[in-house]
Amino acid sequence: MSNDLTWHHHKITAAQRAAQKYQLPAVLWYTGLSGSGKSTIANAVDEKLFKMGCHSFLLDGDNVRHGLNGDLGFSDADRVENIRRVIEVALLMSDAGLLVQTAFISPFAEDRTLAKSRLGERMIEIYVDTSLSVCEARDPKGLYRKVREGTIKNFTGVDSHYDVPSNPDITVNAVSMCADECADKIISFLTEKGRIGTSSVGE
Ligand code: ADX
Repeated sequence: MSNDLTWHHHKITAAQRAAQKYQLPAVLWYTGLSGSGKSTIANAVDEKLFKMGCHSFLLDGDNVRHGLNGDLGFSDADRVENIRRVIEVALLMSDAGLLVQTAFISPFAEDRTLAKSRLGERMIEIYVDTSLSVCEARDPKGLYRKVREGTIKNFTGVDSHYDVPSNPDITVNAVSMCADECADKIISFLTEKGRIGTSSVGE
């Protein structure tokens, strides 16, 4: 970053923008294996938030990799850069007062720690705890089959590592609960913590 840059402070804060929407800025950060159910659950949460009149937006791994991060692959370095950019986009969108959801494998604990340090209290870490064997059996995109055939390398949980979160704010088990039940658990958490249904300025 150049030293010749100046940070411009804006008059309207993130908290004010969010309060205008009767919510607090938040980033629901999902993590879990490919096929664990992150996108499905985040979509269910998004729909519920929308119907409740909340202002939310969902950043989804596969979608973001079509555009903003279309230049990145699945090496460790590219995954780190993928998550770094997503953190910054989530920060900007939450500065705009939105309830942001990010559905990325985000396999490395170090990157999730970086997210926490950038997003602070806004970040709510959600672990979608679905085992590799279940993800593989479901194989919604047919990718695990390709991995076993040897046509995809560096696949998370197989030959690229995944750090299980040590202290997530919420854990959902998409096997014992359907996506709608997982979404209800997340919405209840937001309500109990006063993240939605409030106009108070908390930051
Ligand atoms: S992350 O590791 O950098 O966080 P991200 O969530 O953006 O990954 O993308 C994961 C999605 O990309 C998977 O759900 C799957 O559809 C697809 N994908 C393609 N190749 C791989 C791979 N080698 N490892 C994991 N996911 C892959």
